[in-house]
Amino acid sequence: MKWATVEAPANIALVKYWGARDLERAIPHHPSISITLRACNSTTTVEHDPEGSADEIWLATGAGELVVPPESFRKRAVAHLQRIREWAGAAGALRAATRNSFPMSAGMASSASGFAALTVAGAAALGLERGPAELSSLARSSGSGSAARSVMGGYVEWPSDPDDEACAAVQLAPARHWDLRNVIAVVHGGAKKISSLDGHVLAETSPHYARRREILPDRLQAVRDAIAARSLGSLGPIVEEDAIELHLVAMSSTPPIFYWAPATLTVLATVRELRERGILAYSTMDAGPNVHVICEPEGEDAVAETLAALEGVETVIRDGVGDGPRLLEESLL
Ligand code: DP6
Repeated sequence: MKWATVEAPANIALVKYWGARDLERAIPHHPSISITLRACNSTTTVEHDPEGSADEIWLATGAGELVVPPESFRKRAVAHLQRIREWAGAAGALRAATRNSFPMSAGMASSASGFAALTVAGAAALGLERGPAELSSLARSSGSGSAARSVMGGYVEWPSDPDDEACAAVQLAPARHWDLRNVIAVVHGGAKKISSLDGHVLAETSPHYARRREILPDRLQAVRDAIAARSLGSLGPIVEEDAIELHLVAMSSTPPIFYWAPATLTVLATVRELRERGILAYSTMDAGPNVHVICEPEGEDAVAETLAALEGVETVIRDGVGDGPRLLEESLL
């Protein structure tokens, strides 16, 4: 029986993916750009049994036990295992186990790292040596578009050319190009999480979505230029603007989606105050209440200590730019 274990990181978008031409296959309406992280990651083992008949997916606990995952997760993961097997033209069954480095209770989205790890480990277990572009395209077909970006390390763009069926992400620069840090303020949300998938569907009902798509080509170019020039002073304001715009679109969709918690606003205001104190730090948020604060190494301690002291901030995770998925020797199965 062949198996492979892969650790794949989460990523944080600088220009967000929001709205899709084809949601099931995750073909986006417009490009997005992200930073691949390192500390927040998923580790997944996939085992190929050529004689087996049923695919399995398990959650690995810290104590080395395997537990049954929630049904919605199980269905999406098993559908993706089937996709990987078909893509490889293989027979038999795939058995997988996965765990996250960051606590599920922290409310962090784990599907990007989870589907990237499942894809890369699945391909390796089936003995397929494929390049990152093909793996990115396969990860994307899970329906988690951001997984397409997590297959690459460093600074990553996921384009949206309507004539390119593969729709794979590309690396703009490796991690070593620029040592940025991401301090994540995990906020006590309380409110029920509305999935990004629901958000993508509703995006077009917002009167602000068409305007967003008009503005994006210039914004994307400004972000590429700021990354190339390693200029946080240029990058930061655009990143904040883009995150606020994503939430503006969500809040003005029909029905509206409110991802923020009261402490989200507290963190946003605190980051503005940090800048007044001369610390270059900028906020961004995905489809949830947590705030990712982008800064440089010299500002990281001040940002992390200030955010940890705020009421409503449950925990602070320190992360940075990483190199993308890597193979591990251990098996979770
Ligand atoms: C707001 O459809 O990739 O994070 O499958 O939950 O990871 P998940 O979401 P996906 O949408 C991501 C939406 C976003 C912005 C982004 O990461 O670009």
